[in-house]
Amino acid sequence: MTQTLTLRRPDDWHLHLRDGAMLEAVLPETARHFARAIVMPNLVPPVVTAKQANDYRERILKALPKGMSFTPLMTLYLTEATDPEDVTAAFANGFATAVKLYPAGATTNSASGVRDLDKVMPVLEAMAEIGMPLCVHGEVTDPAVDIFDREAVFIDRVLEPLRRRLPGLKVVMEHVTTQEAVAYVRTADSGPVATITTHHLIINRNHILVGGIRPHYYCLPVAKRELHRLALREAATSGDARFFLGTDSAPHVDPLKECACGCAGCFTATNTMSILAHVFEEMGRLDRLEGFASLNGPAFYGLPANADRITLVKGAPVPYPAKIETGAGPVTVFDPGFPLHWHIE
Ligand code: NCD
Ligand code: ZN
Repeated sequence: MTQTLTLRRPDDWHLHLRDGAMLEAVLPETARHFARAIVMPNLVPPVVTAKQANDYRERILKALPKGMSFTPLMTLYLTEATDPEDVTAAFANGFATAVKLYPAGATTNSASGVRDLDKVMPVLEAMAEIGMPLCVHGEVTDPAVDIFDREAVFIDRVLEPLRRRLPGLKVVMEHVTTQEAVAYVRTADSGPVATITTHHLIINRNHILVGGIRPHYYCLPVAKRELHRLALREAATSGDARFFLGTDSAPHVDPLKECACGCAGCFTATNTMSILAHVFEEMGRLDRLEGFASLNGPAFYGLPANADRITLVKGAPVPYPAKIETGAGPVTVFDPGFPLHWHIE
């Protein structure tokens, strides 16, 4: 008997689409299954102003193949020079849905990020007032802090003090990777929500480092110990509406991953829904996939769930390309390490 699962069309609440030839190649991979995505602003140079966000949105829509529909929800890259009025105007006229906080130096293209939170308090205060969410890359950059501890330390040193100072600010802890982050979301009252990626439900740090170094499993925040992966799987499949999907699909061409100083990022747009169905089935919670991928995110952002539906069908393993070719070079598709039986009709 074939097993099928029908759900509201999902959205991706954290996505890197890049620009130019890369954008053209990766956009259909997302738009095939997802209706909307929160689009990250870490281009070079970054998307800082309302005008830049709107120009980028237009480039995305222009790159969308005929016959596909997709709504990019834009974010503004927070800098210490960001103008609060530009941000509030961008939110009011729909040019931007959220603001992205990168601690300076935390990840790919984050050099223009924030060093001193005091300098951006006027922007954050304005956002709290109008209900505009702050998407946070939650890792400290202090060289004295071990890379595997940077998320947990960020909660204590930065996030909790910020939330005490500005309790009205809507915060998304993005791509959480630790049991500490899961616990923080669960216990902080009227607190932050969190996105969880596809790949962090699959890999722990052994996958990156045992038996040879695997650059295509390297992303930031870096995957942690197995106990953290298990906490993420539990949170994602728990039905708790504070957790939802943000794939953080982050394409880099192979030469920039497979080298002496490889870029961080896993490209999961192509097979995310098949992998998620596998995980939720393994957890005995297929019925909760719709909440995680299609309902909880829109509820947080105050948007309606998508009206149309997708159907997943379980059958013989679905082949996925090992790489997609882009005008900028090949991009390796995330390999979950097991066959995928769920395909999207
Ligand atoms: C992202 C990228 O490549 O832009 N990389 C990653 O490892 N996730 C940046 C980010 O989200 O940290
Ligand atoms: Zn990201």
